[in-house]
Amino acid sequence: MLTEQSAATVRATLPAVGAAIGEITERFYAGLFAARPELLRDLFNRGNQAAGTQRQALAGSIAAFAVHLVDHPDTRPDAMLTRIAHKHASLGIAPEQYALVHQHLFTAIADVLGEAVTPEVAAAWTEVYWLMANALIAIERRLYEENGGPEWRTWQVVERVPETEDVVTFRLRPLDDDPRPVRDFRAGQYVSVRVALPDGAGQIRQYSLSAAPGSGVRQISVKRVPADRTTPAGEVSNHLHAHVREGDVLQLSEPYGDLVLDHRDDTPLLLASAGIGVTPMVAMLARLAETGHRAPVTVVHADRSPAHHALRTDHGAYAAKLPEASVHLWYEREAPQDAATGLADLTDVPVRPGTRAYLCGPLPFMRAVRGQLIEKGVAPADIHYEVFGPDLWLAGA
Ligand SMILES: Cc1cc2nc3c(=O)[nH]c(=O)nc-3n(C[C@H](O)[C@H](O)[C@H](O)COP(=O)(O)OP(=O)(O)OC[C@H]3O[C@@H](n4cnc5c(N)ncnc54)[C@H](O)[C@@H]3O)c2cc1C
Ligand code: HEM
Repeated sequence: MLTEQSAATVRATLPAVGAAIGEITERFYAGLFAARPELLRDLFNRGNQAAGTQRQALAGSIAAFAVHLVDHPDTRPDAMLTRIAHKHASLGIAPEQYALVHQHLFTAIADVLGEAVTPEVAAAWTEVYWLMANALIAIERRLYEENGGPEWRTWQVVERVPETEDVVTFRLRPLDDDPRPVRDFRAGQYVSVRVALPDGAGQIRQYSLSAAPGSGVRQISVKRVPADRTTPAGEVSNHLHAHVREGDVLQLSEPYGDLVLDHRDDTPLLLASAGIGVTPMVAMLARLAETGHRAPVTVVHADRSPAHHALRTDHGAYAAKLPEASVHLWYEREAPQDAATGLADLTDVPVRPGTRAYLCGPLPFMRAVRGQLIEKGVAPADIHYEVFGPDLWLAGA
Protein backbone atom coordinates (compact mmCIF):
# COMPACT_ATOMS: atom_id res chain seq x y z
CA MET A 1 0.00 0.00 0.00
CA LEU A 2 1.28 3.49 -0.85
CA THR A 3 1.89 6.00 1.94
CA GLU A 4 -0.80 8.69 2.02
CA GLN A 5 1.58 11.39 0.83
CA SER A 6 2.83 9.31 -2.10
CA ALA A 7 -0.74 8.37 -3.06
CA ALA A 8 -1.64 12.08 -3.33
CA THR A 9 1.49 12.79 -5.42
CA VAL A 10 0.91 9.78 -7.69
CA ARG A 11 -2.73 10.77 -8.18
CA ALA A 12 -1.70 14.33 -9.10
CA THR A 13 1.07 13.25 -11.51
CA LEU A 14 -0.65 10.25 -13.12
CA PRO A 15 -1.96 12.25 -16.09
CA ALA A 16 1.51 13.70 -16.84
CA VAL A 17 3.30 10.37 -16.37
CA GLY A 18 0.56 8.55 -18.30
CA ALA A 19 0.84 10.97 -21.20
CA ALA A 20 4.64 10.63 -21.36
CA ILE A 21 4.95 6.96 -20.52
CA GLY A 22 5.49 5.85 -24.14
CA GLU A 23 8.43 8.23 -24.43
CA ILE A 24 9.70 7.28 -20.97
CA THR A 25 9.82 3.58 -21.79
CA GLU A 26 11.39 4.23 -25.19
CA ARG A 27 14.22 6.12 -23.47
CA PHE A 28 14.36 3.51 -20.75
CA TYR A 29 14.98 0.67 -23.19
CA ALA A 30 17.47 2.75 -25.21
CA GLY A 31 19.45 3.45 -22.01
CA LEU A 32 19.17 -0.12 -20.73
CA PHE A 33 20.33 -1.69 -23.98
CA ALA A 34 23.12 0.88 -24.49
CA ALA A 35 24.48 -0.06 -21.04
CA ARG A 36 23.74 -3.79 -21.31
CA PRO A 37 23.57 -4.83 -25.01
CA GLU A 38 23.53 -8.50 -24.04
CA LEU A 39 20.04 -8.05 -22.61
CA LEU A 40 18.67 -7.18 -26.06
CA ARG A 41 20.66 -9.95 -27.71
CA ASP A 42 19.98 -12.75 -25.26
CA LEU A 43 16.94 -11.94 -23.10
CA PHE A 44 14.45 -9.48 -24.59
CA ASN A 45 12.55 -10.35 -27.75
CA ARG A 46 14.24 -8.09 -30.29
CA GLY A 47 11.31 -8.50 -32.73
CA ASN A 48 8.97 -7.04 -30.08
CA GLN A 49 11.47 -4.28 -29.39
CA ALA A 50 11.64 -3.40 -33.08
CA ALA A 51 7.85 -3.49 -33.35
CA GLY A 52 7.41 -1.50 -30.10
CA THR A 53 4.92 -3.95 -28.59
CA GLN A 54 6.86 -4.91 -25.45
CA ARG A 55 7.40 -1.23 -24.65
CA GLN A 56 3.65 -0.74 -24.63
CA ALA A 57 3.15 -3.78 -22.37
CA LEU A 58 5.64 -2.63 -19.71
CA ALA A 59 4.42 0.96 -19.76
CA GLY A 60 0.79 -0.10 -19.68
CA SER A 61 1.33 -2.44 -16.74
CA ILE A 62 3.06 0.19 -14.59
CA ALA A 63 0.37 2.76 -15.34
CA ALA A 64 -2.34 0.17 -14.60
CA PHE A 65 -0.62 -0.76 -11.33
CA ALA A 66 -0.38 2.91 -10.24
CA VAL A 67 -4.06 3.49 -11.07
CA HIS A 68 -4.96 0.39 -9.06
CA LEU A 69 -2.89 1.59 -6.08
CA VAL A 70 -4.65 4.93 -5.89
CA ASP A 71 -8.17 3.66 -6.72
CA HIS A 72 -8.14 0.41 -4.70
CA PRO A 73 -5.43 0.86 -2.06
CA ASP A 74 -6.48 -2.24 -0.11
CA THR A 75 -6.17 -4.82 -2.90
CA ARG A 76 -3.51 -5.96 -5.37
CA PRO A 77 -4.06 -6.50 -9.10
CA ASP A 78 -3.09 -10.14 -8.72
CA ALA A 79 -4.18 -11.37 -12.14
CA MET A 80 -1.84 -8.90 -13.84
CA LEU A 81 1.07 -9.54 -11.47
CA THR A 82 0.75 -13.31 -11.76
CA ARG A 83 0.73 -13.24 -15.52
CA ILE A 84 3.87 -11.06 -15.67
CA ALA A 85 5.60 -13.17 -13.01
CA HIS A 86 4.97 -16.41 -14.94
CA LYS A 87 6.44 -14.82 -18.07
CA HIS A 88 9.44 -13.50 -16.09
CA ALA A 89 10.00 -16.88 -14.41
CA SER A 90 9.99 -18.64 -17.78
CA LEU A 91 12.75 -16.22 -18.81
CA GLY A 92 14.78 -16.73 -15.63
CA ILE A 93 14.53 -13.08 -14.44
CA ALA A 94 16.50 -12.61 -11.19
CA PRO A 95 15.66 -10.25 -8.26
CA GLU A 96 18.94 -8.31 -8.74
CA GLN A 97 17.83 -7.27 -12.22
CA TYR A 98 15.02 -5.13 -10.76
CA ALA A 99 17.54 -2.58 -9.45
CA LEU A 100 19.02 -2.26 -12.94
CA VAL A 101 15.58 -1.69 -14.45
CA HIS A 102 14.79 0.83 -11.69
CA GLN A 103 17.99 2.77 -12.39
CA HIS A 104 17.35 3.09 -16.12
CA LEU A 105 13.61 3.71 -15.73
CA PHE A 106 14.10 6.58 -13.31
CA THR A 107 16.86 8.15 -15.41
CA ALA A 108 14.41 8.07 -18.32
CA ILE A 109 11.61 9.60 -16.21
CA ALA A 110 13.89 12.46 -15.13
CA ASP A 111 15.05 13.01 -18.73
CA VAL A 112 11.54 13.14 -20.15
CA LEU A 113 9.68 15.05 -17.42
CA GLY A 114 12.57 17.36 -16.47
CA GLU A 115 11.87 19.77 -13.64
CA ALA A 116 8.43 18.32 -13.00
CA VAL A 117 10.26 15.46 -11.26
CA THR A 118 10.67 17.08 -7.85
CA PRO A 119 12.15 14.97 -5.03
CA GLU A 120 8.58 14.22 -3.82
CA VAL A 121 7.49 13.05 -7.28
CA ALA A 122 10.60 10.87 -7.63
CA ALA A 123 10.02 9.39 -4.16
CA ALA A 124 6.34 8.64 -4.83
CA TRP A 125 6.99 6.89 -8.16
CA THR A 126 9.95 5.01 -6.66
CA GLU A 127 7.49 3.69 -4.09
CA VAL A 128 5.12 2.58 -6.89
CA TYR A 129 7.99 0.88 -8.71
CA TRP A 130 9.21 -1.06 -5.69
CA LEU A 131 5.72 -2.08 -4.58
CA MET A 132 5.24 -3.62 -8.02
CA ALA A 133 8.77 -5.00 -8.27
CA ASN A 134 8.65 -6.58 -4.81
CA ALA A 135 5.26 -8.13 -5.52
CA LEU A 136 6.69 -9.62 -8.75
CA ILE A 137 9.89 -10.77 -7.04
CA ALA A 138 7.83 -12.56 -4.35
CA ILE A 139 5.63 -14.39 -6.87
CA GLU A 140 8.66 -15.27 -9.01
CA ARG A 141 10.48 -16.62 -5.93
CA ARG A 142 7.53 -18.89 -5.17
CA LEU A 143 7.38 -20.08 -8.79
CA TYR A 144 11.11 -20.82 -8.77
CA GLU A 145 10.74 -22.76 -5.50
CA GLU A 146 7.97 -24.86 -7.01
CA ASN A 147 9.99 -25.51 -10.17
CA GLY A 148 13.48 -26.06 -8.76
CA GLY A 149 14.85 -22.60 -9.55
CA PRO A 150 15.34 -20.79 -12.81
CA GLU A 151 16.97 -23.30 -15.07
CA TRP A 152 17.54 -23.88 -18.77
CA ARG A 153 17.65 -27.55 -19.60
CA THR A 154 18.75 -29.23 -22.82
CA TRP A 155 16.06 -31.29 -24.58
CA GLN A 156 16.49 -33.36 -27.68
CA VAL A 157 14.02 -33.41 -30.57
CA VAL A 158 12.85 -37.02 -30.86
CA GLU A 159 10.15 -36.36 -33.44
CA ARG A 160 9.33 -33.57 -35.89
CA VAL A 161 5.84 -33.73 -37.39
CA PRO A 162 4.55 -31.36 -40.09
CA GLU A 163 0.98 -30.42 -39.12
CA THR A 164 0.00 -27.92 -41.82
CA GLU A 165 1.86 -25.91 -44.44
CA ASP A 166 3.06 -23.51 -41.73
CA VAL A 167 2.91 -25.45 -38.44
CA VAL A 168 5.38 -28.08 -37.24
CA THR A 169 5.17 -30.11 -34.02
CA PHE A 170 8.36 -30.93 -32.13
CA ARG A 171 8.46 -33.70 -29.50
CA LEU A 172 11.37 -33.44 -27.09
CA ARG A 173 12.97 -35.59 -24.38
CA PRO A 174 15.76 -34.82 -21.91
CA LEU A 175 19.20 -36.02 -23.01
CA ASP A 176 19.88 -39.71 -22.28
CA ASP A 177 22.51 -38.88 -19.65
CA ASP A 178 20.29 -36.36 -17.81
CA PRO A 179 19.11 -38.19 -14.68
CA ARG A 180 16.80 -35.42 -13.40
CA PRO A 181 13.11 -36.24 -13.38
CA VAL A 182 10.81 -34.41 -15.78
CA ARG A 183 8.53 -32.02 -13.93
CA ASP A 184 4.90 -32.29 -14.86
CA PHE A 185 2.84 -29.29 -15.96
CA ARG A 186 -0.77 -28.20 -16.05
CA ALA A 187 -2.67 -28.23 -19.33
CA GLY A 188 -2.53 -24.71 -20.79
CA GLN A 189 1.04 -23.93 -19.67
CA TYR A 190 3.97 -23.00 -21.92
CA VAL A 191 7.73 -23.29 -21.95
CA SER A 192 10.28 -20.71 -23.02
CA VAL A 193 12.52 -21.95 -25.81
CA ARG A 194 15.96 -20.43 -26.28
CA VAL A 195 17.70 -20.79 -29.63
CA ALA A 196 21.15 -19.76 -30.84
CA LEU A 197 20.73 -17.67 -34.00
CA PRO A 198 23.38 -17.38 -36.73
CA ASP A 199 24.45 -13.88 -35.60
CA GLY A 200 25.30 -15.23 -32.14
CA ALA A 201 22.16 -13.98 -30.38
CA GLY A 202 20.30 -16.31 -28.00
CA GLN A 203 16.66 -15.38 -28.55
CA ILE A 204 13.82 -16.67 -26.38
CA ARG A 205 10.16 -17.31 -27.25
CA GLN A 206 7.29 -19.04 -25.48
CA TYR A 207 5.46 -22.08 -26.86
CA SER A 208 2.39 -23.72 -25.29
CA LEU A 209 2.66 -27.40 -24.54
CA SER A 210 0.30 -28.97 -27.03
CA ALA A 211 -0.10 -32.49 -25.59
CA ALA A 212 -1.57 -33.75 -22.32
CA PRO A 213 0.52 -33.54 -19.15
CA GLY A 214 1.75 -36.72 -17.53
CA SER A 215 4.44 -37.91 -19.93
CA GLY A 216 8.20 -37.46 -20.10
CA VAL A 217 7.87 -35.78 -23.49
CA ARG A 218 7.39 -32.06 -24.09
CA GLN A 219 5.42 -31.30 -27.25
CA ILE A 220 5.26 -27.86 -28.88
CA SER A 221 3.61 -26.87 -32.18
CA VAL A 222 5.17 -23.86 -33.88
CA LYS A 223 3.61 -21.68 -36.56
CA ARG A 224 6.09 -20.07 -38.93
CA VAL A 225 5.60 -16.28 -38.98
CA PRO A 226 6.22 -15.16 -42.58
CA ALA A 227 7.49 -11.79 -43.75
CA ASP A 228 4.96 -9.48 -45.27
CA ARG A 229 5.21 -6.19 -47.10
CA THR A 230 6.07 -4.17 -43.99
CA THR A 231 7.46 -6.63 -41.45
CA PRO A 232 10.32 -9.15 -41.53
CA ALA A 233 9.87 -12.89 -41.03
CA GLY A 234 9.72 -14.06 -37.39
CA GLU A 235 13.21 -14.98 -36.24
CA VAL A 236 12.71 -17.93 -33.92
CA SER A 237 9.74 -19.62 -35.59
CA ASN A 238 11.54 -19.59 -38.95
CA HIS A 239 14.75 -20.79 -37.34
CA LEU A 240 12.91 -23.73 -35.76
CA HIS A 241 11.21 -24.60 -39.06
CA ALA A 242 14.33 -24.25 -41.19
CA HIS A 243 17.02 -25.72 -38.94
CA VAL A 244 15.72 -27.92 -36.13
CA ARG A 245 15.40 -31.63 -36.98
CA GLU A 246 15.21 -34.93 -35.12
CA GLY A 247 18.33 -35.38 -32.99
CA ASP A 248 18.91 -31.62 -32.58
CA VAL A 249 18.73 -30.04 -29.15
CA LEU A 250 16.90 -27.01 -27.76
CA GLN A 251 17.11 -25.16 -24.45
CA LEU A 252 13.77 -25.20 -22.61
CA SER A 253 12.61 -23.55 -19.39
CA GLU A 254 10.38 -25.37 -16.94
CA PRO A 255 6.65 -24.99 -17.73
CA TYR A 256 4.94 -21.78 -16.59
CA GLY A 257 1.72 -19.92 -17.30
CA ASP A 258 -1.45 -19.09 -15.42
CA LEU A 259 -3.99 -20.07 -18.09
CA VAL A 260 -4.47 -23.51 -16.62
CA LEU A 261 -7.36 -25.89 -16.80
CA ASP A 262 -9.48 -26.03 -13.68
CA HIS A 263 -11.88 -28.94 -14.11
CA ARG A 264 -12.17 -30.45 -10.68
CA ASP A 265 -15.90 -29.76 -10.50
CA ASP A 266 -18.92 -30.06 -12.79
CA THR A 267 -18.67 -26.51 -14.11
CA PRO A 268 -19.45 -26.36 -17.85
CA LEU A 269 -16.32 -25.45 -19.82
CA LEU A 270 -15.90 -23.57 -23.08
CA LEU A 271 -12.57 -23.79 -24.93
CA ALA A 272 -12.35 -21.20 -27.71
CA SER A 273 -9.38 -20.84 -30.04
CA ALA A 274 -8.41 -19.42 -33.38
CA GLY A 275 -5.41 -20.33 -35.55
CA ILE A 276 -2.34 -21.43 -33.62
CA GLY A 277 -4.20 -20.53 -30.40
CA VAL A 278 -5.40 -24.12 -30.64
CA THR A 279 -2.25 -25.43 -28.90
CA PRO A 280 -3.20 -24.95 -25.23
CA MET A 281 -6.78 -26.02 -26.02
CA VAL A 282 -5.65 -29.37 -27.42
CA ALA A 283 -3.60 -29.99 -24.27
CA MET A 284 -6.66 -29.15 -22.17
CA LEU A 285 -8.96 -31.40 -24.20
CA ALA A 286 -6.43 -34.22 -24.04
CA ARG A 287 -6.32 -33.84 -20.28
CA LEU A 288 -10.13 -33.83 -20.01
CA ALA A 289 -10.36 -36.93 -22.21
CA GLU A 290 -7.71 -38.77 -20.19
CA THR A 291 -9.34 -38.00 -16.86
CA GLY A 292 -12.78 -39.18 -18.05
CA HIS A 293 -14.30 -35.71 -17.65
CA ARG A 294 -18.11 -35.99 -17.76
CA ALA A 295 -19.36 -32.39 -17.45
CA PRO A 296 -20.35 -30.36 -20.55
CA VAL A 297 -17.55 -28.97 -22.71
CA THR A 298 -18.12 -26.58 -25.63
CA VAL A 299 -15.29 -26.48 -28.17
CA VAL A 300 -15.07 -23.44 -30.43
CA HIS A 301 -12.41 -23.01 -33.11
CA ALA A 302 -11.89 -20.68 -36.06
CA ASP A 303 -9.25 -21.02 -38.78
CA ARG A 304 -8.42 -20.04 -42.32
CA SER A 305 -9.37 -23.46 -43.73
CA PRO A 306 -9.45 -27.10 -42.54
CA ALA A 307 -5.98 -27.55 -44.06
CA HIS A 308 -4.66 -24.71 -41.89
CA HIS A 309 -6.25 -26.09 -38.69
CA ALA A 310 -3.21 -27.37 -36.79
CA LEU A 311 -3.68 -30.49 -34.61
CA ARG A 312 -7.11 -30.84 -36.20
CA THR A 313 -7.24 -34.61 -35.79
CA ASP A 314 -6.30 -34.50 -32.09
CA HIS A 315 -8.64 -31.56 -31.50
CA GLY A 316 -11.61 -33.52 -32.88
CA ALA A 317 -10.59 -36.90 -31.44
CA TYR A 318 -10.23 -35.68 -27.84
CA ALA A 319 -13.52 -33.80 -28.06
CA ALA A 320 -15.18 -36.98 -29.40
CA LYS A 321 -14.00 -38.90 -26.31
CA LEU A 322 -15.94 -36.59 -23.99
CA PRO A 323 -19.53 -37.70 -23.34
CA GLU A 324 -20.92 -34.15 -23.26
CA ALA A 325 -18.87 -32.19 -25.76
CA SER A 326 -20.21 -30.04 -28.58
CA VAL A 327 -17.88 -28.78 -31.30
CA HIS A 328 -18.38 -25.56 -33.30
CA LEU A 329 -16.00 -24.80 -36.17
CA TRP A 330 -15.65 -21.85 -38.53
CA TYR A 331 -13.39 -21.72 -41.57
CA GLU A 332 -12.86 -18.69 -43.75
CA ARG A 333 -12.85 -21.00 -46.77
CA GLU A 334 -13.43 -24.64 -47.75
CA ALA A 335 -15.65 -25.28 -44.73
CA PRO A 336 -16.91 -28.88 -44.69
CA GLN A 337 -20.56 -29.64 -43.92
CA ASP A 338 -20.12 -29.85 -40.17
CA ALA A 339 -18.50 -26.38 -40.01
CA ALA A 340 -19.60 -22.83 -40.81
CA THR A 341 -18.03 -20.45 -43.31
CA GLY A 342 -16.63 -17.16 -42.00
CA LEU A 343 -15.38 -15.83 -38.70
CA ALA A 344 -16.39 -17.27 -35.32
CA ASP A 345 -19.83 -16.12 -34.22
CA LEU A 346 -21.31 -17.50 -31.02
CA THR A 347 -24.84 -16.17 -31.63
CA ASP A 348 -26.27 -19.67 -32.14
CA VAL A 349 -23.92 -21.53 -29.77
CA PRO A 350 -25.70 -22.55 -26.59
CA VAL A 351 -23.70 -21.40 -23.56
CA ARG A 352 -24.74 -22.95 -20.25
CA PRO A 353 -25.18 -20.87 -17.10
CA GLY A 354 -22.05 -20.84 -14.94
CA THR A 355 -19.70 -21.60 -17.86
CA ARG A 356 -15.95 -21.18 -17.30
CA ALA A 357 -14.29 -20.10 -20.56
CA TYR A 358 -10.71 -20.35 -21.85
CA LEU A 359 -9.73 -18.26 -24.86
CA CYS A 360 -6.61 -18.23 -27.01
CA GLY A 361 -6.09 -16.57 -30.38
CA PRO A 362 -5.55 -13.18 -31.98
CA LEU A 363 -6.83 -10.21 -29.96
CA PRO A 364 -9.74 -9.34 -32.33
CA PHE A 365 -11.00 -12.94 -32.04
CA MET A 366 -10.75 -12.92 -28.25
CA ARG A 367 -12.41 -9.52 -27.96
CA ALA A 368 -15.33 -10.70 -30.11
CA VAL A 369 -15.75 -14.02 -28.26
CA ARG A 370 -15.41 -12.37 -24.84
CA GLY A 371 -18.06 -9.79 -25.78
CA GLN A 372 -20.47 -12.49 -26.93
CA LEU A 373 -19.87 -14.62 -23.86
CA ILE A 374 -20.58 -11.68 -21.56
CA GLU A 375 -23.77 -10.95 -23.54
CA LYS A 376 -24.75 -14.58 -22.98
CA GLY A 377 -24.34 -14.17 -19.24
CA VAL A 378 -20.84 -15.57 -18.62
CA ALA A 379 -19.23 -13.76 -15.67
CA PRO A 380 -16.13 -11.73 -16.72
CA ALA A 381 -14.21 -13.41 -13.88
CA ASP A 382 -14.90 -16.80 -15.51
CA ILE A 383 -13.26 -15.80 -18.80
CA HIS A 384 -9.56 -16.72 -18.87
CA TYR A 385 -7.26 -16.07 -21.80
CA GLU A 386 -3.74 -16.38 -23.20
CA VAL A 387 -2.15 -13.89 -25.59
CA PHE A 388 0.61 -15.20 -27.85
CA GLY A 389 2.67 -12.03 -27.53
CA PRO A 390 3.13 -9.12 -25.15
CA ASP A 391 -0.17 -8.84 -23.34
CA LEU A 392 -1.48 -5.44 -24.35
CA TRP A 393 -4.94 -6.49 -23.23
CA LEU A 394 -3.70 -6.83 -19.66
CA ALA A 395 -3.32 -3.09 -19.34
CA GLY A 396 -6.56 -2.38 -21.12
CA ALA A 397 -5.09 -1.54 -24.55
C1 LIG B 1 2.43 -17.70 -23.64
C2 LIG B 1 2.71 -17.84 -25.12
C3 LIG B 1 2.47 -19.04 -25.76
C4 LIG B 1 2.72 -19.19 -27.12
N1 LIG B 1 2.45 -20.39 -27.74
C5 LIG B 1 2.71 -20.53 -29.05
C6 LIG B 1 2.43 -21.77 -29.71
O1 LIG B 1 1.97 -22.74 -29.10
N2 LIG B 1 2.73 -21.87 -31.03
C7 LIG B 1 3.23 -20.80 -31.75
O2 LIG B 1 3.48 -20.95 -32.95
N3 LIG B 1 3.47 -19.61 -31.16
C8 LIG B 1 3.24 -19.47 -29.82
N4 LIG B 1 3.53 -18.26 -29.20
C9 LIG B 1 4.14 -17.18 -30.00
C10 LIG B 1 5.67 -17.36 -30.02
O3 LIG B 1 6.19 -17.18 -28.72
C11 LIG B 1 6.38 -16.34 -30.92
O4 LIG B 1 5.93 -15.06 -30.60
C12 LIG B 1 6.15 -16.61 -32.39
O5 LIG B 1 6.65 -17.91 -32.72
C13 LIG B 1 6.85 -15.57 -33.25
O6 LIG B 1 8.20 -15.53 -32.91
P1 LIG B 1 9.30 -15.21 -34.02
O7 LIG B 1 10.62 -15.15 -33.33
O8 LIG B 1 9.16 -16.10 -35.18
O9 LIG B 1 8.89 -13.76 -34.48
P2 LIG B 1 9.58 -12.42 -34.01
O10 LIG B 1 10.91 -12.30 -34.60
O11 LIG B 1 9.44 -12.32 -32.53
O12 LIG B 1 8.62 -11.37 -34.68
C14 LIG B 1 7.32 -11.17 -34.15
C15 LIG B 1 6.63 -10.14 -35.00
O13 LIG B 1 7.32 -8.90 -34.93
C16 LIG B 1 7.52 -8.42 -36.23
N5 LIG B 1 8.76 -7.64 -36.34
C17 LIG B 1 10.02 -8.10 -36.19
N6 LIG B 1 10.89 -7.10 -36.45
C18 LIG B 1 10.15 -6.02 -36.78
C19 LIG B 1 10.46 -4.71 -37.19
N7 LIG B 1 11.72 -4.31 -37.31
N8 LIG B 1 9.43 -3.87 -37.45
C20 LIG B 1 8.16 -4.26 -37.35
N9 LIG B 1 7.81 -5.51 -36.99
C21 LIG B 1 8.79 -6.37 -36.72
C22 LIG B 1 7.61 -9.68 -37.10
O14 LIG B 1 7.33 -9.41 -38.45
C23 LIG B 1 6.57 -10.55 -36.48
O15 LIG B 1 5.30 -10.27 -37.00
C24 LIG B 1 3.26 -18.11 -27.85
C25 LIG B 1 3.53 -16.89 -27.19
C26 LIG B 1 3.26 -16.76 -25.85
C27 LIG B 1 3.56 -15.44 -25.17
C1 HEM C 1 8.52 -3.64 -11.89
C2 HEM C 1 9.30 -4.03 -12.88
C3 HEM C 1 8.80 -4.73 -14.11
C4 HEM C 1 7.57 -4.65 -14.73
C5 HEM C 1 6.38 -3.82 -14.35
C6 HEM C 1 7.62 -5.53 -15.88
C7 HEM C 1 6.55 -5.72 -16.74
C8 HEM C 1 6.55 -6.62 -17.78
C9 HEM C 1 5.42 -6.92 -18.63
C10 HEM C 1 4.03 -6.29 -18.51
C11 HEM C 1 5.79 -7.86 -19.53
C12 HEM C 1 4.92 -8.49 -20.61
C13 HEM C 1 4.21 -9.69 -19.98
C14 HEM C 1 3.28 -10.40 -20.92
O1 HEM C 1 2.97 -9.91 -21.97
O2 HEM C 1 2.84 -11.48 -20.59
C15 HEM C 1 7.18 -8.16 -19.26
C16 HEM C 1 7.93 -9.04 -19.99
C17 HEM C 1 9.30 -9.11 -19.89
N1 HEM C 1 10.08 -8.59 -18.89
FE1 HEM C 1 9.47 -7.40 -17.39
N2 HEM C 1 8.84 -6.11 -15.96
C18 HEM C 1 9.59 -5.66 -14.90
C19 HEM C 1 10.89 -6.02 -14.60
C20 HEM C 1 11.70 -6.75 -15.44
C21 HEM C 1 13.10 -7.01 -15.18
C22 HEM C 1 13.87 -6.62 -13.93
C23 HEM C 1 13.57 -7.70 -16.27
C24 HEM C 1 14.98 -8.19 -16.51
C25 HEM C 1 15.93 -7.37 -16.94
C26 HEM C 1 12.44 -7.89 -17.18
C27 HEM C 1 12.50 -8.56 -18.39
C28 HEM C 1 11.39 -8.89 -19.14
C29 HEM C 1 11.47 -9.65 -20.39
C30 HEM C 1 12.75 -10.17 -21.04
C31 HEM C 1 10.16 -9.79 -20.84
C32 HEM C 1 9.70 -10.48 -22.13
C33 HEM C 1 9.94 -9.49 -23.21
C34 HEM C 1 9.48 -9.91 -24.57
O3 HEM C 1 9.06 -11.06 -24.76
O4 HEM C 1 9.55 -9.04 -25.44
N3 HEM C 1 11.34 -7.31 -16.64
N4 HEM C 1 7.61 -7.41 -18.20
